[in-house]
Amino acid sequence: MSRDALQDPDLHRRRRQRLLDELGDGLLLLPTAAETLRNGDVHHEFRPGSDFQYLTGFPEPEAILAAWRTAKGRHRAILFVRPRDPAREIWDGKRHGLIGAKKAFGVDEAREFGAFWRDLPELLAAHDRLFHRLGAYANFDRRLLDCCKGVAFRHRRRQPPQHPTITDPGPAIAGQRARKDAQELAGLRAAAAATAAGHVAAMREATPGMHEYEVQAVLEAEFRRHGSPRNGYPSIVASGANACVLHYHENDRLMRRGDLLLIDAGAEVGGLTADVTRTFPISGRFSPAQAAVYRAVLRAQLAGIRACKVGATWDAAHRTCIRWLTKGLVELGVLHGRIDALIAKGAFRPWYMHGTTHWLGRDVHDVGAYEDARGRAERLRAGEVLTVEPGLYFGRRDRKVPAELRGIGVRIEDDILITAAGPEVLTAAVPKSVREVEAACQSASPF
Ligand code: GLY
Ligand code: MN
Ligand code: MN
Repeated sequence: MSRDALQDPDLHRRRRQRLLDELGDGLLLLPTAAETLRNGDVHHEFRPGSDFQYLTGFPEPEAILAAWRTAKGRHRAILFVRPRDPAREIWDGKRHGLIGAKKAFGVDEAREFGAFWRDLPELLAAHDRLFHRLGAYANFDRRLLDCCKGVAFRHRRRQPPQHPTITDPGPAIAGQRARKDAQELAGLRAAAAATAAGHVAAMREATPGMHEYEVQAVLEAEFRRHGSPRNGYPSIVASGANACVLHYHENDRLMRRGDLLLIDAGAEVGGLTADVTRTFPISGRFSPAQAAVYRAVLRAQLAGIRACKVGATWDAAHRTCIRWLTKGLVELGVLHGRIDALIAKGAFRPWYMHGTTHWLGRDVHDVGAYEDARGRAERLRAGEVLTVEPGLYFGRRDRKVPAELRGIGVRIEDDILITAAGPEVLTAAVPKSVREVEAACQSASPF
């Protein structure tokens, strides 16, 4: 049975009810992601879409949730799923089937996936509003719109002929997912623990003469050993100047003495992912120039984390980090002038070109609004989780910086839970101070 199954019928029923109460009367349709071909007979690994996972816990491809509110506090949910198929299951593994899906995932009814398009007109005809997010699955959208047209045609005696009004449920689902519930916080904590173990193992095992992908294997083996079936996103294992490529993914360079290694990697557990970056010296000690850059980024990151308070705007950490990074760039001899004037003209941008925070959860760049309808920055609320990830990146041929800084890229990233008592660093177990990082790099392998 799939490692993504989360069989907690009450939890998913409660989530659906809350969503439908917010949306009001109408039919919610939510298909999951489809399997996609990678090459030949090989598929990309399947992982349910995050909204679908959040509202059903059902782990298989080719599934659709249809749900609607029946009365305040009640709703009806139908899950369309693949039927049992002993011949197919010999090849692809066990399916829940209709009986299993109804029993394990707390829906009122399970029907065959193949019956969905046959049953849809009747479901649509019973509702004036349709809650469906257009744009995720083009084929599904096309068939759904055809079906809506057919429903309007059959109702042509009404003036004017009507198909249901289509409303995007995305913002309501995002609003609900933004503040993590107990199951999600447990997943995030477990993901953080697995991620910490992986980063510590990478610090311990990385040495000159290894390829980046060998360190990736050590890191991800540790994620798996700690209960993580997959990563939340592809690991970035970037040594030397590769650290200056923000989403570096080749991971194939042979590492050399004196290199820094930047690893941005997060384990996924229970559908939730961590997102952690550490930068460390594979020979065990930072050079003076590397340590100076590292300390400038660390100081910014610690100040950024402190800014993550209930009621602060979501980008308070970004503004704080920019101030400290600009100060750091002056101290490193890269920038010259008054801090406020340098910030006002964005003088830091050649060396700090990305944002500092994003929401984190089921998706590494999780759902959640950054602005309200009037364009004002959202304010942080208890239960939200975001990253704080400043960095400084000096390209190998950057003639605008002192020679000893060239080729150094440093990012430090942690995952922060907003609480009434202040920011809680979920990933605090990953070594971070210069002393902790050097000690982890110099520690002996337990094997
Ligand atoms: N790992 C992607 C990011 O930090 O945003
Ligand atoms: Mn991130
Ligand atoms: Mn990251």
